[in-house]
Amino acid sequence: PSKKSENGSLSSLASKERSEIAGFSSGGNESTVSITVVGASGDLAKKKIFPALFALYYEGCLPKHFTIFGYARSRMTDAELRNLVGQTLTCRIDQRENCSDKMDEFLKRCFYHSGQYDSEENFAELDNKLKEHETGMVANRLYYLSIPPNIFVDVARCASTSASSANGWTRVIVEKPFGRDSESSAALTRGLKRYLVEDQIFRIDHYLGKELVENLSVLRFSNLVFEPLWSRQYIRNVQLIFSEDFGTEGRGGYFDSYGIIRDIMQNHLLQILALFAMETPVSLDAEDIRNEKVKVLRSMKPLQLENVVIGQYKSHTKGGVTYPAYIDDRTVPKDSVTPTFAAAALFINNARWDGVPFLMKAGKALHTKRAEIRVQFRHVPGNLYKRSFGTDLDRATNELVIRVQPDEAIYLKINNKIPGLGMRLDRSKLNLHYAARYSKEIPDAYERLLLDAIEGERRLFIRSDELDAAWELFTPVLKELEDKKIAPELYPYGSRGPVGAHYLAAKYNVRWG
Ligand code: NDP
Ligand code: BG6
Repeated sequence: PSKKSENGSLSSLASKERSEIAGFSSGGNESTVSITVVGASGDLAKKKIFPALFALYYEGCLPKHFTIFGYARSRMTDAELRNLVGQTLTCRIDQRENCSDKMDEFLKRCFYHSGQYDSEENFAELDNKLKEHETGMVANRLYYLSIPPNIFVDVARCASTSASSANGWTRVIVEKPFGRDSESSAALTRGLKRYLVEDQIFRIDHYLGKELVENLSVLRFSNLVFEPLWSRQYIRNVQLIFSEDFGTEGRGGYFDSYGIIRDIMQNHLLQILALFAMETPVSLDAEDIRNEKVKVLRSMKPLQLENVVIGQYKSHTKGGVTYPAYIDDRTVPKDSVTPTFAAAALFINNARWDGVPFLMKAGKALHTKRAEIRVQFRHVPGNLYKRSFGTDLDRATNELVIRVQPDEAIYLKINNKIPGLGMRLDRSKLNLHYAARYSKEIPDAYERLLLDAIEGERRLFIRSDELDAAWELFTPVLKELEDKKIAPELYPYGSRGPVGAHYLAAKYNVRWG
C-alpha cells in the first residue's frame, strides 16, 4: 500500500510511518538516509536537486537523520561543494528570519567525494564515508543519477555493490532520457535490472511532480461534475500544449540527438495524457494508478507520420535584437534536421475515447512560455441560443483549461448573459486562479518527487512497462522521420511556430487554444 496518506501530509501518516520519517525504523532502531547526488558538479544538481533538498529540509520534511553527498569526477572539497550549493539556495517558500541559519545547518550536512563513475573502488571509498554518518542506525541509501544516461548502468553497478553493506533500503532515481527508442530504452532497463530490482528504480518525469498535473486525478475523480463528461460523448478534442519562449541555449549538444518529440512529447505530454485519459483506478495505490496508465497507453494507436508536423526555429530580428537560429548553436551541425517544434494528433482506441483527437504541441523559441491542457467540449445539441453566436458556433462551446504553468489556474469557459435588458451572450470564465486562492507558494516538482522517493511512494514515477508502452507509440514515427531525413518547417524565433500545425489541427476540425 501507498506509504503516504491520501492528502500527502506528514501529520496524517499512520504512527508507524511517522516514526520512520522522524528517524526511527519500525524495529525501534533509529534510521538515517544517505542521499548521494551523482553528477553533483552538473547543471541539474545545482539548479534543481540541491535547492529542492534544502526546501524539504526547511519545511521539516526530511528525516531527522540524513546526510547528503555530492559525487562526481571534478575535484572539490566539502567546503567548495558547500560554497557552490550555497549560491543556489533560496528560502523561497516564505522568507523567515531563520533562513540563513537553516542554510548553514543544511550545508553542514552536505559533503563531497570525487570519483569515477565506473570505479567500484571509488564507490567503496564513498561507502566508507557514508558509513561514518550511519553508525548505529538503520542505513537507507538514495542515489540520484544526475548524469548522462550512458553511464547510468556503471553507476548502478558500483552503487549497488557498495550499498550492499547498508542495512536499510537502497533506491536509485534516474533522470530522462531513458533511451532514444524502444530498443535502447529496453537495453537500459535490462542494464539497470542486472543490479537493481524494479522497485528500487525511480524513473523521474518531473512533470508528474507539478502541482496541477498531480491535481488532475483529484479534479476528475472527486468532482461529480467532471467525470460524467469525461468521454467521447461530450469531449470534442483535448490539447496538450508545451511552449518555451527561449531556445535550446547551452543544451544544443544533448538536444540535437533527441529533438523535441523525445524531449517533451514522449514523456511529459504523454504522461499528462495518460493521467487525463485513464480509467478510474481501483485505489490510489501506486500500482493501481500505474496499471491504469499502462492500459490507456497500450490502447493508443502508434503515431503516424501523416499526423505529425515538425519545425525548427530560425534566426529572427525584433526591436533591434537578433535571436539566433537553432543551428547557430556551435554544438549543433549546420545541416541538422532535428525538430525544435512538433505537433501531433494521437488517438485512443477504447470505448471512452474512440475518435477523439488528442493534439499535442511542443516547441522551443516560441512567443510564449506555457504548459496547458485544454479540453474542448461538443456543441450543445439544439442550442436555443445559437443565433446569439452568429456563424461561429465553435465559439459557443465550453472549454476547460488547466494551466500547469506559469500562473497556475483551472478555468472553465461558459456562455453567459451579458447583464442588461437585451439578450446578448458572451463567454466568461469560472476561474480558479491559484495565486488568488492559495497563499502558499507552490513547491517545485523536484521537492514533491524527492520526498516521495525518500518515503518509497512510487505513484509519480514511471514503471518499466509504462516506459515500454510510451516508446512503442513514438518509435516508428521517430524512425521514419530520421530515415527519410524529413526537413522541419522553419519558423522565426519568438513566433507561434510553423503554420503546418494549424493545418494538422484543421484536419480534425480543431482550433488551437
Ligand atoms: P551535465 O551535462 O551537467 O552532467 C552532469 C555531470 O555529469 C557533469 O557535471 C559531469 O561531472 C558529468 N558528466 C557530464 N558529461 C559526462 C560524460 N560524457 N561522461 C561522464 N561524466 C559526464 O548534465 P545535467 O546536470 O544537465 O543533467 C543531468 C541529467 O539530467 C542528464 O541525464 C540530463 O539529460 C537530465 N536532465 C537535465 C535537465 C536540466 O535542466 N539540466 C532537465 C531534465 C533532465 P564531472 O565531470 O564532474 O564528473
Ligand atoms: C526538460 C526538457 O525535461 O523539461 C527541457 O529536457 C525543458 O528541454 C524542461 O526545458 C522544461 O521543464 P519546466 O519544468 O521548466 O517546464
